[in-house]
Amino acid sequence: MTSGGDSPGMNAAIRSVVRTCAFHNIECVGIYRGYEGMIEGDYKAMDARSVKGIINKGGTVLKSARSKTFRTPEGRKQAYEKLIEAKIDGLVTIGGDGTFTGAMIFNQEFNFPVMGIPGTIDNDIFGTSHTLGYDTALNTVVEAIDKIRDTASSHNRLFFVEVMGRDVGHIALNVGVGAGAEEILIPEEDLGLDRLLESLRRSKQSGKSSSIVVVAEGDKIGKNVFELKDYVEENMSEYEVRVSVLGHMQRGGSPSCFDRVLASRMGVKAVESLLEGKTNYMVGLLNDKIALTPLDKAVKGKSEINMELLRVSDIMTT
Ligand code: F6P
Repeated sequence: MTSGGDSPGMNAAIRSVVRTCAFHNIECVGIYRGYEGMIEGDYKAMDARSVKGIINKGGTVLKSARSKTFRTPEGRKQAYEKLIEAKIDGLVTIGGDGTFTGAMIFNQEFNFPVMGIPGTIDNDIFGTSHTLGYDTALNTVVEAIDKIRDTASSHNRLFFVEVMGRDVGHIALNVGVGAGAEEILIPEEDLGLDRLLESLRRSKQSGKSSSIVVVAEGDKIGKNVFELKDYVEENMSEYEVRVSVLGHMQRGGSPSCFDRVLASRMGVKAVESLLEGKTNYMVGLLNDKIALTPLDKAVKGKSEINMELLRVSDIMTT
């Protein structure tokens, strides 16, 4: 099952789960539309051939949803009854922290074996250095910013580019360094408006004619990206400012090789862990090894950004 916001690599993970089941002679059923479909019994048997040609596709062939009904005890009871009716005895759920919270509660209530695979472009899950889709999203965003840079420098403009990342700045920080942004605004660090202006002034004085500022959508500077534009234009008439909100294009596209390989490894581990009788874990990547983290830790733990990158960015923008 895939649930919550989709991410590139989810299909590769579905393929891996299905093929690992086939390898071990276990019947596998795909649940459509996340917990919504689980409640409604929207299931379909999947064999090794049913997942052909999807490893390179973005999105999720099983569709995804954010279910309100599953948050209620009645909804979860219905889901349990449907699973039992379909003779399902283990669940691999691919998604983010909302998905894992649902899986954990479900396990507590019905003692139903669950295993999580982290799939979200935000990379905001504890217990894995990379979530599925994160690497692809980084490459998508860097490519987009490179293009924005072309037009920014032709017109000597300053661009605020908003990238996804509701609660964390992983995408902003990495693409900021990768695309050579002059400033990076992330939720983990409140730069403050004065320091932003100061930094832009320094940038101008150092001879730069155009600038890119990458802003994570969850940034805490206190102004949204359009208000930031107005603020800078009011205070620095020398800048002509434009805003580009990249939005959901960051979630689409063919997964990178890294995400495909990671998804394949995670799917194998998820199924084989269930077969070993393990439950309530998330499969993650830690020091390039596939490792299990208890779901409650994955949900409660904080995914830390790499602070060293902030310093690297400061040095690179000298
Ligand atoms: O969690 C992934 C994410 O893409 C966030 O970065 C973003 O804030 C959110 O999902 C958008 O959700 P939706 O597609 O439901 O608007």
